[in-house]
Amino acid sequence: MSQSSVIVTGASRGLGRAIALELARMGAAVTLNARTESALAQVKAEIEALGGRVEMLAGDVSAPDVAERLVAAAVLAFGRVDAIVNNAAVLTPLARIAESDSVEWQRNLQINVVGPYLLIQAALPHLRRAPQGRVINISSGAAVRPTAGWSAYCAGKAALNMLTAVLAEEEPAIVALAVRPGVVDTAMQVALREQGRAAMEPKAYQRFIDAYAQGALLPPERPGRALAALALHAPLAWSGRFISWDDPEVQALAG
Ligand SMILES: NC(=O)c1ccc[n+]([C@@H]2O[C@H](COP(=O)([O-])OP(=O)(O)OC[C@H]3O[C@@H](n4cnc5c(N)ncnc54)[C@H](OP(=O)(O)O)[C@@H]3O)[C@@H](O)[C@H]2O)c1
Repeated sequence: MSQSSVIVTGASRGLGRAIALELARMGAAVTLNARTESALAQVKAEIEALGGRVEMLAGDVSAPDVAERLVAAAVLAFGRVDAIVNNAAVLTPLARIAESDSVEWQRNLQINVVGPYLLIQAALPHLRRAPQGRVINISSGAAVRPTAGWSAYCAGKAALNMLTAVLAEEEPAIVALAVRPGVVDTAMQVALREQGRAAMEPKAYQRFIDAYAQGALLPPERPGRALAALALHAPLAWSGRFISWDDPEVQALAG
């Protein structure tokens, strides 16, 4: 069978970069997206250095034309789309509901929910044609755990979980999963430590400060490997679930 083709959003750094590199190591062709073209080009070069086949398209996932152009770029380069990984997201605004900026709040949901919806819609015709189409939505514990100061992020990740579950109902031949990647050492955690203090409950904020100080954050490569394995091998029987990267079943799949 020819090489799987996978689209990864938010692939310029952090978890998305790790997922893209792991996918290339596992033999998939990868199409990368994020807004920052220079950072994306660097990841593309890293994958090429591994001998991987890679394409990229810079753009904002919440812009209506970007999803269509991203899918078109993958199809032009690799002839198919077998899976998409909706990883791009923002944590901000870190503010209590009473003090939050409504424009910034809506922007979060445009990126974290509307972005995945647009890419799913654009990719579906190709995912239906693939031997096994897969949609991996990168969710968070925040989808099911309310955290003061994170209203947009929590609401958006909860919506992403439900979008995943509805997709599984509507498209029974496609694997749709929402996956919690753990607490990962990325720029998003830096933003949390820098901007979270004023908005969050002190105990909740301190847990993140302590986890960082104790070296307890995950290197992106660890969940990245599990998420890449899910994009290539997650079984149809799991479709619709919200699962964690370190679930023993997921670890078994990652080998
Ligand atoms: N880090 C954690 O502890 C943690 C925990 C739970 C869940 N997650 C989830 O894991 C995923 C990855 O997060 P991360 O920690 O790796 O964050 P990150 O380091 O901030 O990376 C986010 C990525 O998304 C891209 N991005 C942001 N807005 C975008 C937009 N509008 N259009 C296209 N690309 C966009 C960024 O690149 P540009 O800025 O260049 O666009 C970057 O490549 C997210 O879904 C996040 O919610 C993370």
